[in-house]
Amino acid sequence: MDEVAAKYNFAEMTGSRGITQLRWATFGEPSQVNSQPHLDSDGDLVGAHNGNVVNNVELRQQFMAEGLTVRSMNDGESCVHAVERYVDKGYDFIDAIRLAYGDLEGDYAFVIGRVDDDRLYAFKKGSGLVVGLGEGFTCVSSDLPSILPLTRNIVRMNDGEIVTFWADHVELRSVKDGSVLDREPETVTETMDAVQKGGYPHFMLKEIHEQSQVARELLHMLDGMSEASPRADSRGVQTVLEKMRTARQLYFIGCGTSYHACLAGAVYFAQIAGRSVIPVLAPQFVPQYAPAVNHEDVGLFVSQSGETKDVLNALQIAEERGMTCFGLANVIGSTLTKATACTLPLCCGYEISVPATKTFTNQVVTFLYLAYRLAGRDTKELAVIPDLMDKTLEMVAPQVEAITPSVNEWDDLYCLGYGATYAMALEGALKLKEITYAHCEGMLSTEFKHGPLSAVTKGFPILFAAGPTDVGLIVSGINEVTCRGARAIAIGEEDARLRANATDLIVLPKSTPEIASLLGVLPLQLLSYHMSVLRGFDPDFPRNLSKTLTVD
Ligand code: M6R
Repeated sequence: MDEVAAKYNFAEMTGSRGITQLRWATFGEPSQVNSQPHLDSDGDLVGAHNGNVVNNVELRQQFMAEGLTVRSMNDGESCVHAVERYVDKGYDFIDAIRLAYGDLEGDYAFVIGRVDDDRLYAFKKGSGLVVGLGEGFTCVSSDLPSILPLTRNIVRMNDGEIVTFWADHVELRSVKDGSVLDREPETVTETMDAVQKGGYPHFMLKEIHEQSQVARELLHMLDGMSEASPRADSRGVQTVLEKMRTARQLYFIGCGTSYHACLAGAVYFAQIAGRSVIPVLAPQFVPQYAPAVNHEDVGLFVSQSGETKDVLNALQIAEERGMTCFGLANVIGSTLTKATACTLPLCCGYEISVPATKTFTNQVVTFLYLAYRLAGRDTKELAVIPDLMDKTLEMVAPQVEAITPSVNEWDDLYCLGYGATYAMALEGALKLKEITYAHCEGMLSTEFKHGPLSAVTKGFPILFAAGPTDVGLIVSGINEVTCRGARAIAIGEEDARLRANATDLIVLPKSTPEIASLLGVLPLQLLSYHMSVLRGFDPDFPRNLSKTLTVD
């Protein structure tokens, strides 16, 4: 963003309105012509969107057939022409937008203005959109944290609404009949700390170090102990547990990092509560399980943002099948929280960095907590987690920094685990891929011998996340690769067998087997972070990625 601002002299631009967009390419390659904002045929209208207009290809053909000038492949341009075609036919601007709304299929938030007018207009379908009311200015954004440094007074937009905004006031209308809607602004009270780096060089490092604090808040909230926790209450926990106890089948459903938390959760539920759970990637839930679920089943839909389209698609189908659907989300007020019978909050505050860290560990802590409750175990045993997280970071930081330069010489890595550490291995591999751009495959340690072993060459780094009860099995895996020249970096508690067999041992503090697997992800987060920085990348904003994926 800074590079673009410098190249196009943003600082010297004059005027009282502006539209900027950081594009995550869906239609059309990343290029200048596909960049937003886009103009209409004669340059009178300008607009930009966030999201995915699924009938973009058909619309572009229609626009060209109607004689409109289509310059790019981007669906954001289609949003502009969708309004233009009705303005050209003589419709009033609001009516043109209302008609365009009916033509645009998909999930998106869109802002548009006329060159010769001091107003801007915005509307959304599916995606998020908030209006910020500042001192002498108004703004809209698809991302609430982006406007919090500017103003705390906001209006949340719903689907089917159009906002017209001037520098000093806004007007909300219904798409259905164009009538004016009345909505009191709300004040966001959450602290600004979450949207500032607080002395850390990157949000990711700050969020890694916030893990103990948010885990503490989460445990307090889940136990209903903390009146100081303003973010949620614990009534939902009881509801979720009651349904889970009697469910025919439990499903944990998510994508990316949230899916990895589901994998860990399924292991905990089996090991701690004797309950079998099917953890599943949200898009695969649809063909593989949805046809077989019914009202006797319970699904927990897990999502940091609560806006991931793949998750919302699965939720919609599950609800149509009558399944009881609960959410586990960080962003309260998100689509997931509104669409489920009850959503448990992750209590993490804003997570700004694209790579999820603190929301992952709080997802895992929630699963541990629910498993304890189902098993009738005392959840106070979990109160040690936050301090252990701090201790882990303190212990592993120098160890991770020491191995970073040599691991960084490789562009191919593996990260292996077993049981609950399998989920941590997948998560560590995802972090490494996401922010170092190296290839790192996460895998069940026992699977490595079934093929990938052939990739091993001298010095090839393989990370092993070792839970205390699985050391014997992990050591077998370690020896299979070290005898072929690999470098085995074990992550686990101090253990003579790991010490003797692994090339390097990153030592975690002593805890219980379940907590140890959770702690094992922290050094992997740190390794990814340091490698990313060493490679000269910005770990907070990895190329090609977006924090929230509101597209299919
Ligand atoms: O908001 P969600 O948890 O639903 O997001 C799902 C994934 O896109 C997300 O976890 C992604 O994998 C992370 N950015 C990885 O760090």
